[in-house]
Amino acid sequence: MENGTTKTIFSRKSVRNYVEATVPPETLEFLVRAGMAAPSAMDRRPWEFIIINDKTVVKKLNDALPHAKMAEKAGHAIVVAGNIEKQAGGKDSTFWIMDCSAAVENILLAAESLGLGAVWTAVYPNADRLKPVIETLGLPSNIVPLAFIPVGKPDGNDKPKEKFDKEKIHWNHWSNKKAK
Ligand SMILES: Cc1cc2nc3c(=O)[nH]c(=O)nc-3n(C[C@H](O)[C@H](O)[C@H](O)COP(=O)(O)O)c2cc1C
Repeated sequence: MENGTTKTIFSRKSVRNYVEATVPPETLEFLVRAGMAAPSAMDRRPWEFIIINDKTVVKKLNDALPHAKMAEKAGHAIVVAGNIEKQAGGKDSTFWIMDCSAAVENILLAAESLGLGAVWTAVYPNADRLKPVIETLGLPSNIVPLAFIPVGKPDGNDKPKEKFDKEKIHWNHWSNKKAK
């Protein structure tokens, strides 16, 4: 059952250790293209992508975000943000979170498939993370950053985890652990 896609899914990991290297703008844009291929509620595509390849901006966010200290070495990042006015259900809905999360995962998988490293670091919903990202990137009030994704060349130290857990599978009914 293994193919190129499943191989990428099972080999993806959060990469927090990088070697310095330049990822070309067209590659970063290709990752965003993968993000935009994600499903979204009512196909509203309420996402925006801020590609960061200016070292000064990367450093500013690296310093402001305590859980994204790998960004400076990675050298590049992509912020996935939701346009809350465009989402299914209107501006007080929460579909944008799911839509943008699907886009984030697509970016992580595309990065893995290209031999790049990436890691989902949370911006939303922490106020202390939202503020510096919104301010640094100049985001308008209808654009909420969900994730800050450092992207770069992995040094090879991060490995995928084995997460399969048969206990979490239920067949046809919560109480049934066996296939029909
Ligand atoms: C919503 C979300 C928020 C996360 N936030 C952070 C973060 O702020 N910093 C970080 O280093 N990793 C973050 N991670 C990555 C997780 O720690 C990581 O996915 C988890 O440990 C499993 O490891 P793996 O991605 O290598 O499979 C986040 C992941 C998700 C899905």
